[in-house]
Amino acid sequence: MSDVNPRLAVLASGTGTNLQALMDDPQVGPHIVVVVSDRPEAMALERARARGIEAVVCRPADHPDRASHDRALRDLLLERDVGYVALAGYMRIVGPELIAAFPNRILNLHPALLPAFPGMHAVEDALAWGVKVTGVTVHIVDEEVDHGPIVAQEPVRVREDDDVESLRGRIHEVEHRIFPRAVRALIEGRLKVEGRVVHVLEELEEREGG
Ligand code: GAR
Repeated sequence: MSDVNPRLAVLASGTGTNLQALMDDPQVGPHIVVVVSDRPEAMALERARARGIEAVVCRPADHPDRASHDRALRDLLLERDVGYVALAGYMRIVGPELIAAFPNRILNLHPALLPAFPGMHAVEDALAWGVKVTGVTVHIVDEEVDHGPIVAQEPVRVREDDDVESLRGRIHEVEHRIFPRAVRALIEGRLKVEGRVVHVLEELEEREGG
């Protein structure tokens, strides 16, 4: 369906529960060839190793500036013949050279209904603002932070007694369901981008029947 190879890289900075959801998806997991983190202590790296997937650390501190870190990241993905990239809790801004190497082929997961609450503290910000509904967004990464065309969204209701932990827990449940589905559509070449609008094409009939 797509002329891009489906080899997938996952970038993650933290615990990696979303990486786990991707690895556990039978249509996505086998395509993950490398997991990269900016933090050597990220549990995501251990999860990758436990699955026999290459785990690589690419630390900003090891590079003189943001642009050279970005290039190093791009080069390590290109060396591994990666076709697509999933940001699963990657807490850094992805630079222009990496984005240019994977046009419309990088997906980000964000714990709010963009364009509300962009940035690194979306769950805290939503609670502090007092919204009654927040949610999850999966979007294509472009040059602006938390800005690219939206692939999938799902609301999560905020409860009266929610704190960051409880709300984050319910957001995670939604993420673990919708992120693998979106990444699967990406690597199967089923995302058609028209300006800001993304059409997610249906799966092939034979697969549904199979
Ligand atoms: C996820 O909730 C993801 O939406 C968020 O980090 C969490 C990672 O969880 N990403 C951002 O906030 C990006 N700005 P995980 O490590 O358990 O997958």
